[in-house]
Amino acid sequence: MNRIVVVSNRVQVPTNEAPKAGGLAVALDGLMTQRGGLWFGWSGQVNDDIRRVVSTKTVGPMQFATMDLTTEEHDRFYNEFSNGTLWPLLHSMPEHMSFDRRAAQVYRQTNKRMTDVLVPLLRPTDIIWIHDYHLMAMPALLRARDVEAPIGFFLHVPFPSPDMLASVPEAGALIRDLLSADLLGFQTLNDRDNFTAAALTMAGATRLPNGGLLLGARRVRLGVFPVEIDAHEFAGQARAAWHSNATERLRRSLQGQRLILGIDRLDPTKGLIQRLVGYRRLLETRPDWRRNVTFLQIAAESRTDVDAYKELRNELDAEAGAINSEWGEPDWTPARLIARGGSRDAVAGYMREAGVGLVTPLRDGMNLVAKEFVAAQDPQDPGVLVLSKFAGAARQLGSALLVNPHDPDELAEALDRALIMPLAERQERWQAAWAAIEGATPAGWGRSFISSLIEANGTSPKSSADAPSIRNSHPVVPMSGPDGRGAARLN
Ligand code: G6P
Repeated sequence: MNRIVVVSNRVQVPTNEAPKAGGLAVALDGLMTQRGGLWFGWSGQVNDDIRRVVSTKTVGPMQFATMDLTTEEHDRFYNEFSNGTLWPLLHSMPEHMSFDRRAAQVYRQTNKRMTDVLVPLLRPTDIIWIHDYHLMAMPALLRARDVEAPIGFFLHVPFPSPDMLASVPEAGALIRDLLSADLLGFQTLNDRDNFTAAALTMAGATRLPNGGLLLGARRVRLGVFPVEIDAHEFAGQARAAWHSNATERLRRSLQGQRLILGIDRLDPTKGLIQRLVGYRRLLETRPDWRRNVTFLQIAAESRTDVDAYKELRNELDAEAGAINSEWGEPDWTPARLIARGGSRDAVAGYMREAGVGLVTPLRDGMNLVAKEFVAAQDPQDPGVLVLSKFAGAARQLGSALLVNPHDPDELAEALDRALIMPLAERQERWQAAWAAIEGATPAGWGRSFISSLIEANGTSPKSSADAPSIRNSHPVVPMSGPDGRGAARLN
């Protein structure tokens, strides 16, 4: 079978403490165990000595290869362009976006340097799967290095309308770069359709009768592949974690109050301020809930070098503090805000304990926390999911209470409705949500992308029997030391 080569900015190298960190790692595990695989990307380290180019580690049939970024690449490729320009652009949040031509250049140069390090590691029979917005230039850069292997690209985040994209001068070029792939995968139909519109108007592509796109001689197929979780596995984890010390301590601290729970990365797209304002509105307008409810928001700090994230941390602290000083009592803290992530286990237990899961991003590619909240519930006595209609997950979880996260009154009404919802309705809504997620797995998601990629590439790639061994023009050193990621998966 042909080897799968996965390329992503973050690489989850398994360690003894964290054999599988969740997310992409789980999705790829099955695929790569079956076919063998190479996972390539950033090591997470910054190092200006680029002589030590790539570190490798082999775990069973999988090989991990990572490279450090230089200080300039980390600042301009990762912080400025990926997270300060592309992330807000793709989430349609221009108010958080900055653009600097130099950062756009370093983004391209870094994609090129990563391509140059990757190419000697490739075999002619590989199938290449690139992930996410950090590496949008890579399909074209690989083709420029004469890589003719099947190339798939999956975008984990939303894709905005062409109007929005036009605010970044680099956007048309990046869309053209993506069109060097054989298959482009998106989370929702809306994302795919926005991409098609942008490719036609900004990149000079034409539409093929099968819904694909043509640019020059290259035909590109587009597909929708909503990312999935292993719902059965997470349900088991939540059942066990519900009896853990961590959940028991939380339960005791609530003193019988109902728990509203939010779990996110601390990110402007997650609607955290709006969520607190909605909760405040609940306390203002429905006094019966005072002392009878507690909102716990776990907002794991992230991308702390980017200004928008620093400002958000301060605003959140201020808003949660204001709610507590205004409505709190000596023995009741209405809003508990924690700016650190929890372990996956602890989070699973908290989700099962919660009466309401509040997942209200302003825009989100999918949002796997919403799916995990459903999986974590006790089917006999399930909590209620209040979900933003602007999360990709809302397309599958239509039985949640769907809300517009910008409207505090709507949030307060949904919270009130969730808190008083009769058991029969909670069960009915939960069953519909469970049915939407329980049959899928991350491995199935990965398999369906890869089989579409092979199909899109036309011919099944050559067998690996005659593949040469890894060619190496870069120094390769074995990885050392654990990088310890046992934290909850946060999208
Ligand atoms: C989102 C993105 C991922 C990213 C993750 C964490 O889920 O789609 O590509 O890795 O956030 O962000 P970070 O900047 O810490 O990698």
